[in-house]
Amino acid sequence: MTICNHFFSYKVSLRWASGSLGFVVLLLIFPVFSIAQNYDETKVPEYVLPDMMKMTNRKQVRNIGDWEKIRRPQILRLFEDNIYGQFPKSMDSLRFTVTENKSSMEGKSVLRKVLIQVSHHGKTIGINLTLFIPVKAALPVPVFVLINNRGAENTDPTRDKKSDFWPAEMLIDSGYAIAAFQVSDLAPDNKETFSNGVLKLYTEQLSMDNGMRAIGAWAWGASRVMDYFERDADIDSKKVTVVGHSRGGKASLWAAAQDQRFAMCITNCSGNTGAALARRRFGERIERINTSFPHWFTNNYKKFNNNEDSLPVDQHMLIAMIAPRPVYATNASKDLWADPTGTFLSLKNAEKVYDLYQAKSTLPANPPVKNYPIIRSVMGYHNREGEHNMTAYDWMNFIRFANFHYQKKKGYGNN
Ligand code: GCU
Repeated sequence: MTICNHFFSYKVSLRWASGSLGFVVLLLIFPVFSIAQNYDETKVPEYVLPDMMKMTNRKQVRNIGDWEKIRRPQILRLFEDNIYGQFPKSMDSLRFTVTENKSSMEGKSVLRKVLIQVSHHGKTIGINLTLFIPVKAALPVPVFVLINNRGAENTDPTRDKKSDFWPAEMLIDSGYAIAAFQVSDLAPDNKETFSNGVLKLYTEQLSMDNGMRAIGAWAWGASRVMDYFERDADIDSKKVTVVGHSRGGKASLWAAAQDQRFAMCITNCSGNTGAALARRRFGERIERINTSFPHWFTNNYKKFNNNEDSLPVDQHMLIAMIAPRPVYATNASKDLWADPTGTFLSLKNAEKVYDLYQAKSTLPANPPVKNYPIIRSVMGYHNREGEHNMTAYDWMNFIRFANFHYQKKKGYGNN
């Protein structure tokens, strides 16, 4: 694919330096080349997506058996080796301690705080889970768990602070349990300190070019929370929805692809290396994400900087790995950085795998207009009017989507 020259911008940084011997002034000019991001649909280059239905022996995937036994594991491996890194499978011990269990929200829910401790190779890390369980719902109850990449005040267990980013009362009133943990418990979101978390237990990953990094660690943390849900009799562990926003939404997709115990996945404004197709080169690109956040993905991923076409996968294949489980992706109309159209096209291109399971997608051929949620479909989508964020509007539609799939309730609008 050609990259047009006019996308190149030159950032010139000027630095003045003065020597110690009097008045010598040196002008240093550092030209830094970077590719400006494209926001013009007419400039999206032609691209060919990797054929997810063709196995490495060139044979076509014809049925669920071919997909589950051969092609899906091949694709999972490609994502591990090239993008998100390995998902450590062993640990020496896993301990759950309920540190608080009390009535909350004026009696509408029970607040349960749980410390999940993982030990391996003589080291231990703790994941602090905040969980609210509705009192009125029949137990065990389905739960939404947020991989929280924003401040802990968004998931305040005391409910003194309330945030639409995690509107716990709305979920409780709708009959769902809601949980959250901080990504920093697994890997601080910082290129210098990200290894100061779960990677202390799996240091070998750090020297591997296909080793786990921060986003992989956050997704891995979601699986440890899932381990806890399997032991909490109040939680329906067959109805756990993993939710993430933006960088957290990249992790929620990877968690659901890796761990098939998650029944449903929500990926909110996840953009590049989340739900959006990389080959469209619209908004954020691989080179940019790897430069700004070198600690998120494998070393191998850097090979694809300005080289999207050579990636053996694209993000529709990540969604396909979640099939036949429901996935809901969102965007915000002003968040072109996260490529709303590219997100929609990822879902569309994953349909072939959902078709194998006869899991019905009713996504239209083209992206729906703003604020038009597609709910009654195995893959749901909306493009909310507004900015990059996760809001009460988004959550309201996650609930509608979960109601449709978990309860097969009728009467959820015209879509
Ligand atoms: C940056 C980054 C995105 C990411 C976002 C977020 O904008 O470039 O890839 O999704 O932060 O996490 O809010």
